Amino acid sequence: MKECLARVVDNSPLCDTMFQLTLRCDGLFEDGAEAGQFVNIAVNNPSLPLRRPISIYAIDRQKREIRLAVQAKGEGTLALLRSKKGDELSLLGALGNAFSWFVPNNAKRVFLVGGGVGVAPVRCAFDELSAKYDCSLFAGYRNVGLVYGLDGIEKERVFAVSDDGSFGEKALVTKPLGEQIEKNKPDVILACGPAPMLRAVSDLSEKHGIACAVSLEQRMGCGLGACLVCSCKVKAKTPEGYAYRRVCADGPIFDAREVIF
Ligand SMILES: Cc1cc2nc3c(=O)[nH]c(=O)nc-3n(C[C@H](O)[C@H](O)[C@H](O)COP(=O)(O)OP(=O)(O)OC[C@H]3O[C@@H](n4cnc5c(N)ncnc54)[C@H](O)[C@@H]3O)c2cc1C
Ligand code: FES
Repeated sequence: MKECLARVVDNSPLCDTMFQLTLRCDGLFEDGAEAGQFVNIAVNNPSLPLRRPISIYAIDRQKREIRLAVQAKGEGTLALLRSKKGDELSLLGALGNAFSWFVPNNAKRVFLVGGGVGVAPVRCAFDELSAKYDCSLFAGYRNVGLVYGLDGIEKERVFAVSDDGSFGEKALVTKPLGEQIEKNKPDVILACGPAPMLRAVSDLSEKHGIACAVSLEQRMGCGLGACLVCSCKVKAKTPEGYAYRRVCADGPIFDAREVIF
């Protein structure tokens, strides 16, 4: 992990609550950047010293650019929303493990499942893994105004739904996922989204005997493995039956069978 400076190439709206930051960042590519990893980004506001963790949404290795899909939520992300073309931002990264570590070489079919903001890293994984595996993307949104991350994908590879039926079927993302598992069982499922969605995806995977990895978006402090703010509970052979792992340093991607949701 190291600090690198990124130049804002573009800042544009993505959906009602999210914007897309395109960053040129040569330093990030010295050690490589992969789908599933995140950057810890300083928000250019002295009164907000804590960096914000944001997943990599797209990678352009030739141009040495990454894109981030950011939900304007609190002070930190609103400060990022105000960044303009040409601004300089400090990043730590790329941090964490990548989705690819979880996909065995002999896998053929991979299902990627995202909910809301969690669509960003799985869309990146879809782009990165499609050259090698038969990938399909499952995405769940609250409503049509929050849809992003589906552009440029063949229709038959996308299964998108919304909570209120304003985009696709009115359903949770586990509905099309369950249907497609019955038709075309994948070797691996990779997911990112809210905890109830991850729990449901994990249960479905277990029921069908499919390997599943989940990316956890926990609150973070240091992002460097030191403060333990981001701890999550995993099953372990301890007297209590569980142990804590750091999402920033040990994840953010974990085997779903290990996680205690
Ligand atoms: C590994 C990882 C990847 C993420 N990827 C994305 C992404 O691609 N796009 C995106 O929009 N958001 C992502 N998030 C969530 C994002 O980090 C928070 O929404 C953001 O930090 C909120 O900061 P804020 O100042 O706007 O909000 P505030 O609520 O004002 O934040 C205050 C503090 O809480 C922390 N915090 C608040 N909510 C979260 C949260 N859900 N997760 C972690 N820390 C939080 C902030 O870091 C900050 O220290 C990711 C989080 C993690 C851990
Ligand atoms: S955020 Fe400090 S240990 Fe993970």
